[in-house]
Amino acid sequence: MREPVAIAVERLGKRFRLGPRATTDRFTERLQTACLNTVRRPWQWLRGSSRPTAPTTAHRDEYWALDDISFEVRQGEALGIVGRNGAGKSTLLKILTRITEPTRGRFGIRGRVASLLEVGTGFHPDLTGRENIYLSGAFLGMSRQEIRRRFDEIVAFAEIDAFIDTSVKRYSSGMYTRLGFAVAAHLESEVLIVDEVLAVGDAAFQKKCLGKMQDTAQQGRTVLFVSHNMLAVQTLCSRAIWLDGGSLRADDTPAAIQQTYQRATDSAAPSSHLLSASADGLVRVRSASARPIPINAALTVQSPVEIVVDYDIIDQPRRLHVCLYVFDSTGACAFCTFSEPSTHPPGHVRATCTIPGNLLNAGTYAIDVQIVEQGTTVIVGIRHAIVFDVLDADRTTSWLGTWSGAVRPACVWQVSSLDKATRT
Ligand SMILES: Nc1ncnc2c1ncn2[C@@H]1O[C@H](COP(=O)(O)OP(=O)(O)OP(=O)(O)O)[C@@H](O)[C@H]1O
Ligand SMILES: [Mg+2]
Repeated sequence: MREPVAIAVERLGKRFRLGPRATTDRFTERLQTACLNTVRRPWQWLRGSSRPTAPTTAHRDEYWALDDISFEVRQGEALGIVGRNGAGKSTLLKILTRITEPTRGRFGIRGRVASLLEVGTGFHPDLTGRENIYLSGAFLGMSRQEIRRRFDEIVAFAEIDAFIDTSVKRYSSGMYTRLGFAVAAHLESEVLIVDEVLAVGDAAFQKKCLGKMQDTAQQGRTVLFVSHNMLAVQTLCSRAIWLDGGSLRADDTPAAIQQTYQRATDSAAPSSHLLSASADGLVRVRSASARPIPINAALTVQSPVEIVVDYDIIDQPRRLHVCLYVFDSTGACAFCTFSEPSTHPPGHVRATCTIPGNLLNAGTYAIDVQIVEQGTTVIVGIRHAIVFDVLDADRTTSWLGTWSGAVRPACVWQVSSLDKATRT
């Protein structure tokens, strides 16, 4: 017998306007989300504000970050969601957690939802770790006693005992994520939604999170897991969907999705959708990607890595340069690099940077991309625009490297005995 449907998404769409993003009070967002999720509700469809038949073409300054997405997830299923930066993954999760409303379409979720979205969402900065745990539990409709029973487990999992009575605004991003994940995974909910948690935290903690999510799925809870780490998706999920430019491109086993997705990424056809734009809307980054050289090979410690940033200049020539900041999985900046400033006429520009082979360590790296004008003014800044994995060539089946350090250069060694060889 098939399990009942836990999440249903029907023709979901979300339209945004170009230009600077509206800033929102995250605590208010959280309150809205959490309050709506407190009670165990019967199935209920939540609709977007527009008619389902509204035309799909966007106005000049509007675009669809999610366009006509439909799928179902059954209870106890662990669904991986993959796709390039700007594909709409986080937007989908924000709709499902009711942080934002769909423009059209509808969705329904059975049961309570615990979520860990982008780092920085979810906790009240002025409250301590302890207070935030109780607050999150209360939002989920748990009694004080129930929360108390889970409290020690949460603190032990997050490994932040010494800081539990410190306000979370003093936490490092790693500590914040640890606590966020521990709370989402240990408090009682039928659905667990996690966005890209493996990009932060050290290797040991990432492994622990993956193990915990596996347990969670085995206990019959439904898991939605967004990640750029295909090996993690394959390890955890029984099924995956691939979002591309706001559309659902494929829905299959994680192994099949990895193949199709990898092939499409390797061919690196520049996409026509928008990743980010300058405040005046006249410099628009279409895509940013990393690929190994040669292109069809696995990206290992030995591979040179080509970083490609595609952007459009609208209306008039601009003097720009591109900066890349490369971070390892602990959040440490391994290095930064930038192009020479140059003036380009309006049109499509491609910046390519090659990171030499035998420099990066095995593990996950994230690259912040900036477009800088006149040498000093950052006009576009995209945090973690590119996230990719470097495999250990000797251990390609493992998703975690074992060597310490942000980089792993192939240093030249020579060891010889300085004493005269003694022969008899
Ligand atoms: N509040 C907002 N206002 C305007 N545009 C937005 C807003 N939030 C997201 N977008 C845009 O919607 C598109 C989808 O963004 P989203 O964050 O869902 O992508 P993603 O798949 O999660 O990418 P990543 O892998 O980088 O996390 C992007 O073009 C993004 O710039
Ligand atoms: Mg995202």
